[in-house]
Amino acid sequence: MIVVKSQSEIQKMAAAGSIVAEILESLKTFVSSGMSTADVEAYVDAEIKRRKAIPAFKGYRGYPSSICISLNAEVVHGIPSKVVRIRKGDLVSIDLGVILGGYYGDAAITIPVEGVSADAQRLSDVTEQALYAGIDQAVIGNRVSDISSAIQKYVEAQGFSVVRAFVGHGIGRQMHEEPQVPNYGKPGQGPRLHEGMTLAIEPMVNAGTFDVVILRDGWTAVTADGALSAHFEHTIAVTRQGPRILTKI
Ligand code: MF3
Ligand code: CO
Repeated sequence: MIVVKSQSEIQKMAAAGSIVAEILESLKTFVSSGMSTADVEAYVDAEIKRRKAIPAFKGYRGYPSSICISLNAEVVHGIPSKVVRIRKGDLVSIDLGVILGGYYGDAAITIPVEGVSADAQRLSDVTEQALYAGIDQAVIGNRVSDISSAIQKYVEAQGFSVVRAFVGHGIGRQMHEEPQVPNYGKPGQGPRLHEGMTLAIEPMVNAGTFDVVILRDGWTAVTADGALSAHFEHTIAVTRQGPRILTKI
């Protein structure tokens, strides 16, 4: 069952979403070489607390942290660690979800650390643009796979591949609601989009093969071929005025 939200519920999701957006935006300047991924977690935890929100990921299916931080060939769900240091030229994907007033906001960005290669920068840019190509399709009357197909087309035209193993999702009073939102597929399939649907759209894009492997920690997904990966995500609402990004400052 897909839960459609009222305008006042969408406002509450926008309040949660703007907290996510503000914190992610501040990370673009905070994240730098030399710090550990646990330092980033500590900073984000303090920022969530300051805004009286609740971290959405901590404790979710046993996940230990408030953020996922995935470096280079790590695709998603990297766990912050005191012994992992960010280095010059790293591609750092950070995923953050919070709960405010009972509603979830979920977003992710990839941050190229100083000295990143031109290829890594292009991968990050293409992934962000693929997210916007998907969001453009989140209009009343389209179907879910119109989003999926637009993302896949954009990514593959740039010579990269779309991860199949993880998908976007409905979101609201739960982090994961129906429907699933794959980042690949034929257009014109899946549920029709209606006013008030709220979705987390989150393409993960690999420079090489789309296959991923889960590390022994049970969480960290890495590319099977060791090539770079990037991830961008927004929570959006389908409105009569078109897609509305809720994870926005
Ligand atoms: N954006 C991811 C998702 O929607 C983040 C979940 S991480 C988890 O699935 F640790 F909470 F699972
Ligand atoms: Co998500």
